[in-house]
Amino acid sequence: MKTLVIVAHPHLERSIINKTWLKRLKEENVAVHDLYAAYPDFKIDVEKEQALVLGYDRIVFQFPFYWYSSPALLKEWQDVVLTYGWAYGSNGTKLHGKEFMIATSTGGPKEAYQEGGYNRYPMSELLRPFQAMANLTGMKFLPPFMLQGVRNLTDEAIAASAEEYAKLLQQ
Ligand SMILES: Cc1cc2nc3c(=O)[nH]c(=O)nc-3n(C[C@H](O)[C@H](O)[C@H](O)COP(=O)(O)O)c2cc1C
Repeated sequence: MKTLVIVAHPHLERSIINKTWLKRLKEENVAVHDLYAAYPDFKIDVEKEQALVLGYDRIVFQFPFYWYSSPALLKEWQDVVLTYGWAYGSNGTKLHGKEFMIATSTGGPKEAYQEGGYNRYPMSELLRPFQAMANLTGMKFLPPFMLQGVRNLTDEAIAASAEEYAKLLQQ
């Protein structure tokens, strides 16, 4: 199973969680594509991105949860790369059969993401647009990998999450 991790973090240099995860993935030689490094001007090379994605069986979107969604460049990537006739539509079958997974970190703790909680809605609902994207493009939506309440975590807990994430991607 060849996995491509598409990372979208606008300030990776200041990141703790996503940076730790990436460092661990590097040790496993997992292919990582850093969108903000590749396209700081948001001018995405669509053909290059489509060709890249074709070479992998599993696509992971990794990002810090921003405003109940992903950072903006990942949305732009979806808007311009997942074109009609390529990713969807009767002839748009290029992603069919691939696996798709979200890996995200949230400031809010798990308890906040439920009915009656601070953020009201469960993550399964907030991540629904990504699941719908996977459905429309014929990809299998895997259970998301999440680390929540990240402001209050010990170094050990962060390292353990990186370990768990790396193991998950080896499967
Ligand atoms: C612009 C912005 C928006 C954010 N929105 C959310 C949010 O909607 N929900 C949440 O739980 N955390 C939110 N956070 C917190 C980030 O998810 C958290 O800082 C990040 O996951 C930490 O990962 P990192 O160490 O890799 O940067 C936001 C942070 C920023 C800077």
